[in-house]
Amino acid sequence: MNIQEIIAKKRDKKELSKEEIDYFVREYTNGSITDYQASALVMAIYINGMNDMEITNLTLAMAHSGDILDLSELGEIIDKHSTGGVGDKITLILMPIIASLGIPVAKMSGRGLGFTGGTIDKLESIPGYNTNITTEKFIENVKNIGISLMGQTLNLAPADKKLYALRDVISCVDSIPLIASSIMSKKIAAGANKIVIDVTCGSGAFMKTREDAEKLAQIMTSIGNLANKETVCVITNMDEPVGYAVGNTLEVIEAVDILKNKYMPEDIKNIIEELGGNMLVLAKKVNNIEDGKKLIIENIKNGKAYSKLLELVKNQGGDFSYIEDTNKFEKAKFICPIISKQNGKITRIDALKVGELSCYLGAGRQKKEDSINPKVGFIFNKKVGDIVEKDEVIGYVHADDEDKAKYVLEQDVVETK
Ligand code: URA
Repeated sequence: MNIQEIIAKKRDKKELSKEEIDYFVREYTNGSITDYQASALVMAIYINGMNDMEITNLTLAMAHSGDILDLSELGEIIDKHSTGGVGDKITLILMPIIASLGIPVAKMSGRGLGFTGGTIDKLESIPGYNTNITTEKFIENVKNIGISLMGQTLNLAPADKKLYALRDVISCVDSIPLIASSIMSKKIAAGANKIVIDVTCGSGAFMKTREDAEKLAQIMTSIGNLANKETVCVITNMDEPVGYAVGNTLEVIEAVDILKNKYMPEDIKNIIEELGGNMLVLAKKVNNIEDGKKLIIENIKNGKAYSKLLELVKNQGGDFSYIEDTNKFEKAKFICPIISKQNGKITRIDALKVGELSCYLGAGRQKKEDSINPKVGFIFNKKVGDIVEKDEVIGYVHADDEDKAKYVLEQDVVETK
């Protein structure tokens, strides 16, 4: 078997066997297959697709490319994952809620990918928060306080780690077989028993249409069930950014404010109720999603979820005084208002444009070695459907570079009619 033959087969729209997929994943992970050969195969998969059997085989090969975490001593773990979005701070809000309801949370998250943000970048904007703990410490944290959120350990699905970084720089992210295998390989390796996946759909997601989101949901559910991990996918809208804040520190502040019960954007309420309700049913905490939704909101209102967040930050070395007083977070140098040009109703806040411009401001990476600027991004005062008047402030651009701020303000991210 050799990689040239495998590339040629996929180039010619033929089905790859389990042995060929295993060979590719094994030899790419150990460095025998080069990035340029892997790029050719990934591009062929991107263009010609894979059938369900190929996707399942790719997932299992990637899941077994490194360690499989054994979390059985923690009891039943219900994991949560998002296929990516703009302003998506749901993990920061939902996981402390779930832990505050007595369900153990042991979650490994990723960094930003393309124009989408990542939970680990967000958590690292809290001074001192350590995302890079050992597996032993991760398990100990969950035993002690019921929750730990950390980055992917080095040896968890290393094939996905390499392919994820490669796809990002060769424009091969938004592919159903590649996303399904990337997510499910990590979930299988991360040791969860049951999984709830937020399949985002719209301009700021990798799946732009409902049809594609449904296809992705269907294949991930069937891979999960095949791997003996009950999997529920919830399709959520990503045409406008989630909530009001986009950018790492800005999103942490929004998540903290929501857990402090200061305000609750309607879209975030719907997403945490839907995902959380499903998680509580899987955990057998409630018999139906509606009862689960009530508990989710109750534990924000009674302050238990906020206390759990404080405990999490403290326990992972973070300076929790920043959570108690979010004014302590360093601000960007330029905070420039976005002014409405007319009276009317907001018909669009383009999540893709906002995500790309946030990356341009420094919130994401252009190359995988880049460091990010946690302070920059957007805060909107309005959502789609709100009425605005001419000259009203619709939101703010947070930038550290004046020229970049000017450029971003010239882009029409908000449409009013
Ligand atoms: N999230 C992942 O973990 N992988 C993808 O490919 C896309 C989103």
